[in-house]
Amino acid sequence: MKRLAVLTSGGDAPGMNAAIRAVVRSAAARGVAVEGVMNGFAGLAAGECQPLDDRAVGGILQRGGTILGTRRFPSFCDVVVQEAVVERLRTANIEGLVVIGGNGSQQGALALHRLGFPVIGVASTIDNDLAGTEVTIGVDTALNTATTCIDRLKDTASSHHRAFIVEVMGRNSGYLALMSAVAAGVEMVVVPEFPTDAEAVAADVEATYARGKAHYIAAVAEGAQLSARALAAYLQEHPRGFEARLTVLGHLQRGGSPTVRDRLLASLLSVAAVEALLGGHSGEVIGWRHGEPAAIPMEVAVEPCCKVTPELMELAAVLAR
Ligand code: F6P
Repeated sequence: MKRLAVLTSGGDAPGMNAAIRAVVRSAAARGVAVEGVMNGFAGLAAGECQPLDDRAVGGILQRGGTILGTRRFPSFCDVVVQEAVVERLRTANIEGLVVIGGNGSQQGALALHRLGFPVIGVASTIDNDLAGTEVTIGVDTALNTATTCIDRLKDTASSHHRAFIVEVMGRNSGYLALMSAVAAGVEMVVVPEFPTDAEAVAADVEATYARGKAHYIAAVAEGAQLSARALAAYLQEHPRGFEARLTVLGHLQRGGSPTVRDRLLASLLSVAAVEALLGGHSGEVIGWRHGEPAAIPMEVAVEPCCKVTPELMELAAVLAR
């Protein structure tokens, strides 16, 4: 293989730049040129590429976001668009592709693999919703951000004896909400995986107030059936001791300089991805298992997965006493 391409896709995740850097430099060390595709699969379809050498990826390791840009691109589900992309890649003498992204991005990668184009994925999303990998790039940084924000809310919540309903990112997965809840020590976790209703939370608010706690924090995943907004409104209409406020952390959780853990994870996974591609592999996502990079068949990686277990939910509840 003489030339490969790399793209970042879906929601950006802190550590994507470290991953791009590792792809470029490990490929260069093997004498392979790298094209950077701008704006994910949309840029791939439009032929937006630029050569990346060792110097082009200098100074980006510690930067959040992605220097290549990213985009949501639903049109990539169309097989006509996929075939045109394969044709374009072949015409440009690109022999392999590294896709840095989460679940939706790896579904796009799988489509190209099925059309016979060599593709390797790098597991990268703050949602940690890829199967077969313990963790994905960006999770650690996002968790640190969410936890720090909740710590701050606790300060003001305790001072005013208030309840704060905090919306944490995660469209289909409650992982970020649950883990930041445990790390910050909150009273209630509401996730899509274990539905609850507003009255059950309100009863818990009341019991917590009666136990003499100074505050009540509920971490609500973005994708929970009981939304943070609806829960806050219910508690404002039916007050149970604590006055309620709503805070949506939103995209704050996607930005920022990656933690050391995310930089290392991104570097190790991306070097392994280039090795896999140059070793003739395709249709695999490189994730992390048992303390090292692991190749997961793409079909497996994109299956629905649940890292929010009843045991973790129970642990969060016990620690919230
Ligand atoms: O990248 C994952 C994620 O941050 C989800 O947690 C969230 O639901 C979604 O992306 C938000 O997407 P967008 O930035 O397109 O609004």
